[in-house]
Amino acid sequence: MEPVLEVRDLRVQFPTSWGPIKAVDGVSFTLQPGERLGLIGESGSGKSTIALAVMRLLKPPARIVSGEILLNGVDLLRLPEEEMRTRRLAEIALVTQGAMNSLNPVIRIRPQLIDAMRAHGVRLSTREFDERLNALLESVDLRPEVADLFPHELSGGMKQRVCIATAISLKPRVIIADEPTSALDVVVQRRVMQTLRRAQDRIGAAVVLIGHDMGLMAQFAQRVAVMRAGQLVEVNSAMEIFTRPRHPYTRLLMESLPSLERREPLLTTLTGPAVEGT
Ligand SMILES: Nc1ncnc2c1ncn2[C@@H]1O[C@H](COP(=O)(O)OP(=O)(O)OP(=O)(O)O)[C@@H](O)[C@H]1O
Ligand SMILES: [Mg+2]
Repeated sequence: MEPVLEVRDLRVQFPTSWGPIKAVDGVSFTLQPGERLGLIGESGSGKSTIALAVMRLLKPPARIVSGEILLNGVDLLRLPEEEMRTRRLAEIALVTQGAMNSLNPVIRIRPQLIDAMRAHGVRLSTREFDERLNALLESVDLRPEVADLFPHELSGGMKQRVCIATAISLKPRVIIADEPTSALDVVVQRRVMQTLRRAQDRIGAAVVLIGHDMGLMAQFAQRVAVMRAGQLVEVNSAMEIFTRPRHPYTRLLMESLPSLERREPLLTTLTGPAVEGT
């Protein structure tokens, strides 16, 4: 099967006075249609930088030094910005930890969701939009009345559900979820992840889930990619990663997890990304 997303030798750097930080340093991976890929690794290992690079939302001083990002065979890095804008949301969507804060606080949910669709050329009658909206809200386990509320009237979990609704509104082939539930409490996290899982399944989108919570990761991901200091050190089935990690770093990462059976203080420390020239 042709991958829906293929990242080839992606390199992203941040210039600093000590030399460039290689935030992403030659990363390659593929994502099959409908697949759920986990991306794990310690803080600062470059996970969000990959997500933003794939969405082409990286801000200066970040610089994509090289690489290809093929979405359905088309290199996103070569598209004019205008064309990239139409593909965002329609073909590839991003949900982040802070997504809920990107909702406009003074506008009700209905016009926000409809505007996002309109901005991508969806032309429907008011009634059709309402029907579409109800179906969307239902698919993220929200009642239709939520459409008439302001963001501040929603809980964090509800807001993240609205963001997932936005992300799936145009049935993208790929969803990148960068710690989509980290800002929520543990119980809500699980429920929102189940919602994401069902929504993804319904529209047949592939998902890259970035996260720290190995419990959520183990439940969600079919394959897991492990990042360290800007590089992918191991990509394997979730089963293999969690039960038989091969790379020493993956093993360290697994050992540093507070396990339910083995409640010990965390003693293992891990180092951050390499700065060129040090
Ligand atoms: N604005 C910036 N300026 C300079 N360096 C940056 C900037 N943003 C990120 N970096 C560098 O890129 C590296 C990767 O950051 P990134 O946010 O991708 O990590 P992450 O894996 O998503 O971490 P976390 O798990 O904490 O979200 C960081 O270690 C940092 O050195
Ligand atoms: Mg991050």
